[in-house]
Amino acid sequence: MQKNSAISIESNADLKPINTFGIQGKSKYLIHFTSEEQLPQILRYVSNFKGKVLFTGGGSNILFTGNWDGLIVKIATKGIEVLEEDEDYVYVKAEAGEVWDDLVNYCISGGYGGIENLSLIPGTVGSSPIQNIGAYGVELKDVFYMLEAVSLRTGEIREFYKEECLFDYRYSIFKGVYKGVYLILSVILKLSKKPLLSLSYGAVEQEINRLDLPLNIASVSQAIINIRRSKLPDPLEIGNAGSFFKNPLVSKDVFKAIKQKHGDIPYFITDEEYKLAAGWMIEKCGWKGYREGDAGVHEKQALVLVNYGTASGKQIKDLAEKISDSVYDHFGIRLEPEVNILSSEE
Ligand code: FAD
Ligand code: EPU
Repeated sequence: MQKNSAISIESNADLKPINTFGIQGKSKYLIHFTSEEQLPQILRYVSNFKGKVLFTGGGSNILFTGNWDGLIVKIATKGIEVLEEDEDYVYVKAEAGEVWDDLVNYCISGGYGGIENLSLIPGTVGSSPIQNIGAYGVELKDVFYMLEAVSLRTGEIREFYKEECLFDYRYSIFKGVYKGVYLILSVILKLSKKPLLSLSYGAVEQEINRLDLPLNIASVSQAIINIRRSKLPDPLEIGNAGSFFKNPLVSKDVFKAIKQKHGDIPYFITDEEYKLAAGWMIEKCGWKGYREGDAGVHEKQALVLVNYGTASGKQIKDLAEKISDSVYDHFGIRLEPEVNILSSEE
């Protein structure tokens, strides 16, 4: 980490550069958390602050629905190191503010397998455990070893091992009872020097063959990057936060009833539950490519809501509610947002 302990507090800061939805607005205060030495000062400031406090990484899973009448601490602490290794495994530690995809590239260059399927996911390392990021058949939990976090209530730093994090599909304890309680400082992953490639999801292997590349972690990463670029909008070009909703998990009975009416619905079976493709359902309801002012539904992936320029967070949220209602009317399933919808007023 860099040694720079002074914190500077910006007033009336612009929200647009700190959220990938590109929502415009202001935060009453903004602090950039760039080095470990700033932690005591930041904790003091946060505990004395009278108002709402939000920690952000890359701002790629949040939707501001208005100005933020509080404090935002943007985490930008840096550092990646190999802690320990043996013949088979390597333990890699990364600070919370590291860009997730930089960690992926570091691991691919080192020949450490396990997170190549999570290539090109925006955001930071510190947020990756919060919703147990996942893509192309792999979730963070598959390689997660431990994290270090500080309690915002007591200032105590503690370790969380995998079992304590209660990881599940787009879920961890940090979205449950510890929501807003812990600030994640660093994450340690256990990666493999003899990687088992995960090629079961979608057309990954097909893409590697099309590229005429040998099968290895680098080619898996390249194939996934290509597939992702072909359907997901780049936030630098069109504001978005990835999938707006989670794919709903339903019981076998509910699944059977839906499947009877909609024989072609894509699904995955996970631990006795059925995960339905929300993007497919939204498309079936006619929303794909829909646009209302600058708020819209991505034309190549209906699960992704987009901001074409000046949509407000409220407009995106209103559109999401209409979509959710229409999916409920058609399929009897209530979609849950994956994106963290934020308001400093509640
Ligand atoms: P932010 O949006 O900054 O924060 C998210 C939440 O975490 C907030 O509640 C925040 O308060 C909290 N938080 C952030 N940092 C910390 C910390 N250090 N300690 C405690 N709390 C913290 N996600 C997937 O799982 N799979 C995908 O394939 C995927 N694809 C995406 C594609 C695109 C184009 C986009 C824009 C997003 C995608 N996402 C995906 C969602 C997003 O990238 C992830 O959720 C990512 O982990 C968010 O990281 P962030 O740093 O931007 O988090
Ligand atoms: N589909 C449609 N129409 C659409 C979108 C999807 O019919 O408009 C169908 C696809 O054809 C496919 C199925 O739905 O049969 C699943 O689509 P896709 O493979 O694109 O994945 P997804 O379920 O829509 C999830 C994650 C993504 C992750 C991909 C790849 C969630 C909420 N989303 O999307 O994560 O990248 O799988 O693993 O689980 C994110 O979380 O932000 C995110 C982008």
